[in-house]
Amino acid sequence: MQATSHCPDGFPAMDWKVPLTTLTIGLEEEAAALRVLRRGWLTMGPEVEGFEQEFAEAVGARYAVATANATDGLALCYDAVGVGAGDEIVMPALTFVAAMNVALRRSAVPILVDITSEDDLTLSVDDLAAKITPRTGLVVPMPYGGFAPDMDRLMEITRRHQLPVVEDACHAILGTHKGRKLGTFGVAGVFSFFGNKNMTTGEGGMIVTGDPAIAQRCRQMRNHGITRGTYHRHQQSFDQYDVLVAGHNFRMCELRAAIGREQLRKVGAANRRRGELASRIREGITARAPEVRFPFTDRDQTASSHHLLVAILPHDVDRRDFMRRMTERGIQTSIHYMPLHRFTHTTGLWDEPPHLPVLESIEHRMVSLPLGPGFTDAQVDLVVEGTVQSLR
Ligand SMILES: Cc1ncc(COP(=O)(O)O)c(C=O)c1O
Repeated sequence: MQATSHCPDGFPAMDWKVPLTTLTIGLEEEAAALRVLRRGWLTMGPEVEGFEQEFAEAVGARYAVATANATDGLALCYDAVGVGAGDEIVMPALTFVAAMNVALRRSAVPILVDITSEDDLTLSVDDLAAKITPRTGLVVPMPYGGFAPDMDRLMEITRRHQLPVVEDACHAILGTHKGRKLGTFGVAGVFSFFGNKNMTTGEGGMIVTGDPAIAQRCRQMRNHGITRGTYHRHQQSFDQYDVLVAGHNFRMCELRAAIGREQLRKVGAANRRRGELASRIREGITARAPEVRFPFTDRDQTASSHHLLVAILPHDVDRRDFMRRMTERGIQTSIHYMPLHRFTHTTGLWDEPPHLPVLESIEHRMVSLPLGPGFTDAQVDLVVEGTVQSLR
């Protein structure tokens, strides 16, 4: 194992030569946070409103609703479209667990869709079409790693079945499909600003929608179902509110919103940098170890947000050994993801195990290589060299 060091506050940190990713946090975010602290209004107020407007503009949506995180955003959207107990919610098997947990918390049934192929890890639209039933209440596609599923066919099929679509667009901040921003195809799209995302507020999320009723419902449920927020009341001479429905506290605070506004200004350039670095790493590895496969190489790379750089290892390479060797070289790797039907809490959930032959043929060979917009040339070389050397 790599030696650990200690940050000034005593928190142990791995000394990665190449961490899984890098942040774009700088002096701009520090100044923004200070601005909020000095203003003295910390809970949801003008920064959150400004962040919502700027985010809506950036993705070309009519409305944006900031939330404490994307999981809360998904929950608000599932409730806003009205799915509940017994409804089937169709989603990729290869995604983060949030989309499924939000369904399970509502006693809905997650229906897992296979990937398209070894070269395209987004959900298979053919498999999606085959898994729609009269009980289907919602479809939740996810642009894996920043690459869109076949949104034309997906939207055509869901329209034909009159099914709402909520995009889990957490990987795809400013990513596009045929020029249109991901997250804007369905009734709503949800983004995450968790610490490992292409832009971050530490924790945070954003719902985008073109539907005023969905926006209004999400806003209301985000804030206890209350008629007006405390900032609004702070500006008035009276402090009377009503509660129309039993809602949640899924709010974002001013500090995070102020940081998010700065991050939003940087994310386009950071995504392009991610794309350049991903190409260099991929090409470097392919030149020396063509047996390592990279999905999505035939895609328009400028359309992707390049959230992940996933490699498919050769059959004769043990993934755990590979990841251990990378760790010994100080290079962090990860797995995105363990398929949703492999977790303890989903054991026995379905009468029949989900049919996912394509995903199951590669699930143990997928590995996420490091990719961060702040990588140096030396770090790019280390990832290439480390990957080639760690195969044996
Ligand atoms: C695809 C996907 N969906 C949902 C989430 C949940 O986001 P959050 O951590 O903001 O709740 C994540 C974050 O890791 C994600 O990657």
